[in-house]
Amino acid sequence: MTKPKVLVTRRWPAAVEAQLSQHFDAVLNTSDVPMTPEDFKAALASYDAVLPTVTDKIGAPALELARPQTKILANYGVGFSHIDMARVSDHGICVTNTPDVLSECTADLAMTLLLMVARRAGEGEREVREGQWTGWRPTHLVGTKVSGKTLGIIGYGRIGQQMARRAHHGFGMKIIVQNRSKVAPEVLAECGATQVDSIDDLMPLCDFVSLHCPGGPENRNLINASRLNLMRPDAFLINTARGEVIDELALSQALWFETIGGAALDVFDGEPRINPVLRDCDNLVMLPHLGSATREAREAMGFRVIDNLRDFFEGRAPRDRVN
Ligand code: 8YV
Repeated sequence: MTKPKVLVTRRWPAAVEAQLSQHFDAVLNTSDVPMTPEDFKAALASYDAVLPTVTDKIGAPALELARPQTKILANYGVGFSHIDMARVSDHGICVTNTPDVLSECTADLAMTLLLMVARRAGEGEREVREGQWTGWRPTHLVGTKVSGKTLGIIGYGRIGQQMARRAHHGFGMKIIVQNRSKVAPEVLAECGATQVDSIDDLMPLCDFVSLHCPGGPENRNLINASRLNLMRPDAFLINTARGEVIDELALSQALWFETIGGAALDVFDGEPRINPVLRDCDNLVMLPHLGSATREAREAMGFRVIDNLRDFFEGRAPRDRVN
């Protein structure tokens, strides 16, 4: 039997690329240069499977073809708001993602951001590197205590729950949850969490708010000016979900006018371009989308993609199908 033709759109961990080449007729992107919509259109016309990531916008321009050869988009990552799901599904293309294997590492990074912004670690690092540190003093870069505070979690899926575990069991934080559907009482009980009905209910109750909901058009600007206004003046906002979930202009105003205490972002609307209004906010920590960036998670994500592909091409239902 001929092996399915598979296109990998970016460099992947070497161990995963090796296994992909073993099981499939795999074409690797050794230059690691992101593909254009035209490249995608050509790829969808000739490969049996395309393996995209968050940097690959698969929208109308890439999908304007009558009968794609591609039968499966096996996404490397849990979020898939870069894929126009309606159009892809119209073509009958199966889409899979890689949940579970990156939840702990992404929650670790959300906790890193929370600690960094509360303890002013970004400002401190910039000061030391710029040679501006004049020495210890009682009033220097005084931050906010984390232990025992209240954390609001928007989106209580796998990553949100891992964040709650770290915050509650590690830092004695009280957990408040907002989620689209009702969370099972035993799941809430694991971290002594309380579910509220809406984001508007959650915002005023929290010292920290961490976003763990999906991106995409339905959640664009979910955190807008009026919801930022509901936050306490000393509260912090953390985002490891997707950039479009926050109205960045409204956030920059909240940071400038100090209507909130600060924010920490791992993801940006239109990344890697950073909205210039964010750059000058001192009370903002920014990281370059590192949520799942550990060797362990990135390899496990790749092996999960291979499992999905093998299931698909060997006639089984891939476990991570999302459409
Ligand atoms: C991934 C992420 O590394 O899985 C996700 O949704 O946000 C990241 O941690 C990235 O999306 C790869 O596609």
